[in-house]
Amino acid sequence: MPDDTPVIEIRNLHKAYGALEVIKGVDITAHKGDVVSLIGSSGSGKSTILRCANLLEDSQQGDILFKGEPVKWKGEGLLRHPADAKQVLRIRTNLSMVFQQFNLWAHMTILENVMEAPITVLGRDRAEVEKAAHAYLDKVGIADKHDAYPAQLSGGQQQRAAIARALAMEPEALLFDEPTSALDPELEQEVVRVIKDLASEGRTMMIVTHDMKMAADVSDQVIFLHQGLIEEQGAPDALFGVPKSERLRQFLSSTMAA
Ligand SMILES: Nc1ncnc2c1ncn2[C@@H]1O[C@H](COP(=O)(O)OP(=O)(O)OP(=O)(O)O)[C@@H](O)[C@H]1O
Ligand SMILES: [Mg+2]
Repeated sequence: MPDDTPVIEIRNLHKAYGALEVIKGVDITAHKGDVVSLIGSSGSGKSTILRCANLLEDSQQGDILFKGEPVKWKGEGLLRHPADAKQVLRIRTNLSMVFQQFNLWAHMTILENVMEAPITVLGRDRAEVEKAAHAYLDKVGIADKHDAYPAQLSGGQQQRAAIARALAMEPEALLFDEPTSALDPELEQEVVRVIKDLASEGRTMMIVTHDMKMAADVSDQVIFLHQGLIEEQGAPDALFGVPKSERLRQFLSSTMAA
C-alpha cells in the first residue's frame, strides 16, 4: 500500500432509513494518523456515518474503502448489503468503535472485557492477550481496576476501560461516538486526556463529539454536518476561528452558550 492511501475513505455516501434520507452524499477521508472530528446538531447524521463506516449499518449508494480496498456490495438501493462476510469482519475489527454508553459486558471483569474479543474474534493466544490487556489498562490509567466489574467503576473509568477494550483489538483506526457526553465534567476530562494521548501517538481516529474544545485540540480536520450533508470542513483553526457558513456560526454560538 502506498503511504498516501487513506485508512478510511468514504465517497458520496447515501443512507436512508426507509423513506427518510439521512446521509445525502458525504465524502470523508482519513489518512494514517489523522484525527477527523464530526460535529453538528442532533440528527445531522454523525452517528450514522460512523456506523456506516464500520459496516454496522448498510448504506444505499457510494463507496467505503478501507486502506484502499472498497467494500464489496450485492444488491442495490435499500437492498444493498455487504457481499463478503469475511471482509466485513476484517474491516470491523480494524475500526474499533467506542460508544457513548460504554457497552461493557456487565458480567465480566474489566480485564475479561478487554481480553474477550482478541481471543474470540481474532483467535489470539490467551496469555499474550492477557499481558497486552494489562498494558492497555495501564495506558488508560486503570491498571488497578482489572478485577473489578463495570458497575464498580465510575463512568470515566468505564469509558477508559471501553477504550482499552477497543485498543486491544490493535485496530487501524478508532471510531468514537460521543465518548464523553454521558460523563460528569470532571470525569469527562479523564477521558479527554486519554483521547489526546492517542491523538499525539498518531492514531487514526474519527470522533463524533459535542466537545468543541476537544475537537479543536485534537483534530487535524473538523467536519460540520447539517441535515446529512457536509456544510463546512477544514482545519480546526479555520473552522472554529473564521467559520464561513452562517449555519456553522449559529451552531458554534449555541454550543458555546450552552
Ligand atoms: N435506526 C433508525 N431508524 C430510523 N431513523 C433513524 C435511525 N437511526 C437514526 N435515525 C435518524 O437518522 C437521522 C440521523 O441520526 P444520527 O443518529 O446519525 O444523528 P446524530 O447526528 O448522531 O445525532 P445526535 O447528536 O443526537 O446523536 C435522525 O433523523 C434520526 O432520527
Ligand atoms: Mg449520534
